[in-house]
Amino acid sequence: MNQWLDERLHLSRLNDKFLRKAFPVHHSFFLGEITLFSLIILILTGILLALAYEPSNSMIVNSFDPGTADKPNLIPAAYHSALKINAMPFGDMLRRIHHWTANIMIAAAVVHMMRIYFTGAFKKPREINWWIGLLLLIFAVFTAVTGYALPYDNYAYNTLKVIYGIVASIPWVGEWVSQAAFAGRFPGEGIIPRVYGYHIMLLPAILIALTGAHLLIMIKQKHTQPQYAKRIAYKKIVGVPLLTQQTPIMLLLALLFAAIIVLFSAFIPVHPVEFFGPPSTTPINNIKPDWYLLWVFGALAIIPSFEFNFLGGVIGSEFTGAMILPTFIVLALFAVPMLDRSRHNMYYAENPTNHPVRLAAGVAFLALLIVWSVAGYKPELISANILTTANANTILWIATFLVPALAYFATLGIVRGIRALRESDERDRAAFSHADD
Ligand code: HEM
Repeated sequence: MNQWLDERLHLSRLNDKFLRKAFPVHHSFFLGEITLFSLIILILTGILLALAYEPSNSMIVNSFDPGTADKPNLIPAAYHSALKINAMPFGDMLRRIHHWTANIMIAAAVVHMMRIYFTGAFKKPREINWWIGLLLLIFAVFTAVTGYALPYDNYAYNTLKVIYGIVASIPWVGEWVSQAAFAGRFPGEGIIPRVYGYHIMLLPAILIALTGAHLLIMIKQKHTQPQYAKRIAYKKIVGVPLLTQQTPIMLLLALLFAAIIVLFSAFIPVHPVEFFGPPSTTPINNIKPDWYLLWVFGALAIIPSFEFNFLGGVIGSEFTGAMILPTFIVLALFAVPMLDRSRHNMYYAENPTNHPVRLAAGVAFLALLIVWSVAGYKPELISANILTTANANTILWIATFLVPALAYFATLGIVRGIRALRESDERDRAAFSHADD
């Protein structure tokens, strides 16, 4: 059979080229795989959800509570189908698995990216994969946001309104871009079919294409090698081949991961569409994005309200906070490989403490995002009467500069302390071995 297939498809070449790839054995290398498994689970559960979901915001009679003949209870078809999915056997469970996996995928991608950054794995020759990885993260976030809109409950409706407003705040072309992106002036008849198209076709196609490129480049360039590989066989690839050793390890990890998500989903509910009800004119005050976008809300919150005209376009705080500042953050991430001055190909994953400035800059960057995420949560702080609005703004502005600066210098101090201890330890050991001689 093998020979029959090989004569027609030359499978042995595929085997030599891809399936013998050596995978380093180190727990941190599983983070990328967990991100990949999440994408697969999302696609599978998404296909099942799409079978029952109705991508339309036309009004239909609520079959759960039809009202009367002269006053029928009309709700958007998309919202109605979300209620129907919840009422189906395992429908609610399917929604939970899809929702939690999306969160885990983004969290795993962020931690995976931190591993790459802190061990220097973005350096030559892996710069392209750093950039593709960033695009993957950005598009994964877009996919999650469009998914949030689909149940079209009052919360999703208000969130879409906020996003529409942010896009419309781009000077000169904002209103035009918003209408083009959301199928007309908000909330146009075509808004749900349009967002659905993004969520189930455009964005997954981009994610699959980018993931394919990411993995092919990784196979071509090979993994960075963990430090222990240096001791075992210097400048040799140390690891287990994809076929057959790594495959069962990956399958076991995938099964364990899926089991944990199912268990988790059995106990922790997701966004309750029934609680928020269908879109209504009653605004929801406390609209907040999920944890991974809170920092954007924070950036929006710390910019005091302003507006001025420039060459016929309006530049305001919404555009500055929700678009300009996040663009700087994303550009800083894209620039990371350019800051590296080494000319040689990177072979071994680096010990983060051997690169104190990079480590401290990374910690300061995280600290800034955390401060902004807290700022995104600000309404709670204010309503709990801990801070008044004016105080909260001043404190958050001071924190925006102070906390990252403190994080930077504290990390540098700690790392230098650790290195001094390590060096004195090595000196002691050398002195002992001389004494023994
Ligand atoms: C969001 C979806 C993503 C998926 C599915 C994914 C998947 C993977 C997998 C399976 C690996 C090999 C295993 C490993 O090193 O952990 C890998 C390696 C890599 N990824 Fe990702 N990744 C994603 C996002 C990212 C992000 C956000 C970045 C950075 C900005 C990134 C940069 C890299 C780099 C540079 C490597 C090579 C690492 C090395 O050789 O040590 N990836 N990715």
